[in-house]
Amino acid sequence: MSLSLDAPAQDAPAVADDGVWLECIACGGQFAPFDDVRFTCDDCDGLLEVRYAHPPTFDDFEGEGVWRYAAALPFEEGVSLPEGHTPLHEVPRLKEDAGVDRLRIKHEGMNPTGSFKDRGMTVGVRVAKELGVGRLACASTGNTSAALAAYGARGGMETLVLLPAGKVAAGKVAQASLHDARILEVDGNFDDCLDIVQDLANRGEVYLLNSLNPFRLEGQKTIGFEILEEFRDDYGTFPDRIVLPVGNAGNTSALFKAFRELVAAGAMDPDEVPALTGVQAAGAAPMVEAIENGADEVRRWDEVETRATAIRIGNPVNAPKALPGIRQTGGTAVAVDDEAITEAQRDLAREGVGVEPASAASVAGLRKLRERGVVDADEDVVCLTTGHLLKDPDAAYEAGGDPEPVANSTDAVLEHIGAE
Ligand code: F0G
Repeated sequence: MSLSLDAPAQDAPAVADDGVWLECIACGGQFAPFDDVRFTCDDCDGLLEVRYAHPPTFDDFEGEGVWRYAAALPFEEGVSLPEGHTPLHEVPRLKEDAGVDRLRIKHEGMNPTGSFKDRGMTVGVRVAKELGVGRLACASTGNTSAALAAYGARGGMETLVLLPAGKVAAGKVAQASLHDARILEVDGNFDDCLDIVQDLANRGEVYLLNSLNPFRLEGQKTIGFEILEEFRDDYGTFPDRIVLPVGNAGNTSALFKAFRELVAAGAMDPDEVPALTGVQAAGAAPMVEAIENGADEVRRWDEVETRATAIRIGNPVNAPKALPGIRQTGGTAVAVDDEAITEAQRDLAREGVGVEPASAASVAGLRKLRERGVVDADEDVVCLTTGHLLKDPDAAYEAGGDPEPVANSTDAVLEHIGAE
């Protein structure tokens, strides 16, 4: 199965373990999945994908959460807290405002550590145990570090996280700290941190659990399975479009892979696949640049800035997997400014859905694409919100109203609120 949406399932090669193997998306090199630690292709350094001889249909799924989708994963169970089975909120006012036929919000902030990263870690830490590695590590804008710390703790493993100094929201550092990760603050941005962690991994010092690790994306595929199943249960059809924030483009790649596997299994037609629509902050938008220019490669941005610190990323490492996903599903990518992100965060909160700034980028992106006429009024859309409001309390305070001081008496309160 290549990166083509309609590629058929492949026969298991000799290196496969129970129908599972790793394959390079650049040169097709195939590797045994659990014999050695590797993150990229031995031959050409290309990105690896986990491949299955028997991709699943919807009938193969049972249970709840990420492990409902075990038939599409390399193991039956993992190091679990548990994760997945997140709400698909209705948001009637936002829907009216955006002017689309249907709009649902898949709120990944409702995972155990408050972001979608838990879906990847439940699988990734399970694989780490299979490989028998020692120290787990990641570079992070915050959420990956919180998830790694929690799942590492759950699995009884040592964790090391590299964070860009001063650019990680308070809730995330607090989580990594309390779950007992060793936290290194690097005087550089996320992309610099990832360069270092990759070096450490290549030297055998750590097991890397960023989304370069193909097993993490297996867990994140389950976002796609859940959206498709829930949407179909409610409306009898699949959504036309999924709009999601993009940093390293791991989710974009993972959703595309989920769709490819369902198509290969005959569970979905290629023309039923939702259009993957990526949103970046204007100050960190290399994927948008590549899509707008029709480029095959993404140019690394050395200077990046946005209030949505989770997606303050200039070198989306999964771009070679994600660009074909956006293009083949008829999707697109769009950049939104920080003001539009904050406005969307506020509007989501007014529907009771509390998200961190990066998450609100999806809604801001949808609005912009509707205004431009790229998204049609008759579309059924799901926006992915990737992290919980409490991840970034400072941003929430700034976006929300200020507390009002009042004297310590009922009369003073009544007077203050203007009651008769
Ligand atoms: N939204 C949130 C809240 C994130 O934390 C991230 C990535 C993304 C979106 C982007 O997802 O990389 O799959 O395109 N956060 C990483 C981290 C980089 O370290 O927590 P992507």
